[in-house]
Amino acid sequence: MITSDQTAVLAGLGTCLPVGEEDNAALSERLDTSDSWIRERTGIAARRIAGPDVSMRDLAVAAGENALKAAGLAEVDAVVVATSTPDRPLPAAGPQVASSLGLGSVPAFDVSAACSGFIYALAVSAGLIGTGLAGDILMVASEKYSRAVDPADRATRVLFGDGAGAAVLRSGRRDERGAVLAVDWGSDGTGRDLIHWPGGQGGYLSMAGKRVYLKAIEHMTSSTLRVLDQCGWAISEVDTFVPHQANMRIIRAVAQQLSLPEDRAVCALERTGNTAGASIPLALAHGQANGTIRAGDRMVLTAFGAGLAWASAALVWPEINTVESEL
Ligand code: ACO
Repeated sequence: MITSDQTAVLAGLGTCLPVGEEDNAALSERLDTSDSWIRERTGIAARRIAGPDVSMRDLAVAAGENALKAAGLAEVDAVVVATSTPDRPLPAAGPQVASSLGLGSVPAFDVSAACSGFIYALAVSAGLIGTGLAGDILMVASEKYSRAVDPADRATRVLFGDGAGAAVLRSGRRDERGAVLAVDWGSDGTGRDLIHWPGGQGGYLSMAGKRVYLKAIEHMTSSTLRVLDQCGWAISEVDTFVPHQANMRIIRAVAQQLSLPEDRAVCALERTGNTAGASIPLALAHGQANGTIRAGDRMVLTAFGAGLAWASAALVWPEINTVESEL
């Protein structure tokens, strides 16, 4: 629960997607799958795949630079990178992103919460700003899941894509548009084997799809209800719902459980697939570009993924710029 008057306010958004697009037809040539199966079961038509010369950090730096441009800032007090597909286990990507952006010797670190990474980073950043430990923060969610999935596994290969999204947060008051009003977050380590990636020589990502599907609906629904409760909003007052973009059927099921009209849910996965931690900022940029998200909208963000970890946040959408690029 956020109780202080001073909180984080969203000041700019940036994204970066790899140029390489892989559609369902291209995947169907290599795997025992089809465009109709993937579309019907997931809503995904294509995903962006970064080439070997584009790293998770490259995507993070480009998205971060775009968010700084969007916010009109050249300096921040801290950098937070959310990723579950780091280029290397050690060191964290945060300091490298900060150096590449010329941000000096600011504190910089990573948050590992998979698909909930962006909202976890938002929660941590709001805490740092709320306590006065930082003023402006650059937070970046960047993922390269094409490294983690088995190219021969149709069950996971069709789902994931690469990409990055970033936001600049500044210190402000609760009554300003863009202020982070409430956060709900949680975890359940007993579900650690439902989605896991041993990394190194240990192999590829594995996911118990059906069980994850059911857990995603359960936790995104309950976490959304808790965050609404914190800010005193009824579900009917939510203008825009921005869920983690894993599967269109999960998004529909959560909307149904919440009795939320489906057209209030932003759906941006058709051409990007599941980009894990980056999916929420990419969906925000998508919604802003196509007019689904408007300044003044009461908005709830919610996510669920490996950990298990889930998180939700509430805010009123501000008038901000979004800068997008491809790499
Ligand atoms: N093409 C064709 N057939 C396939 C494919 C494919 N790409 N993938 C699986 N199948 C087959 C299966 O082998 C199975 O065949 P069988 O019945 O002969 O055994 C059949 O399709 C049905 O498989 P299910 O797994 O039951 O399919 P389901 O309808 O559950 O959809 C999916 C699978 C899309 C993975 C779904 O379970 C899902 O979206 N799960 C949640 C994913 C998610 O939310 N992840 C978020 C977290 S990710 C993170 O945090 C990193």
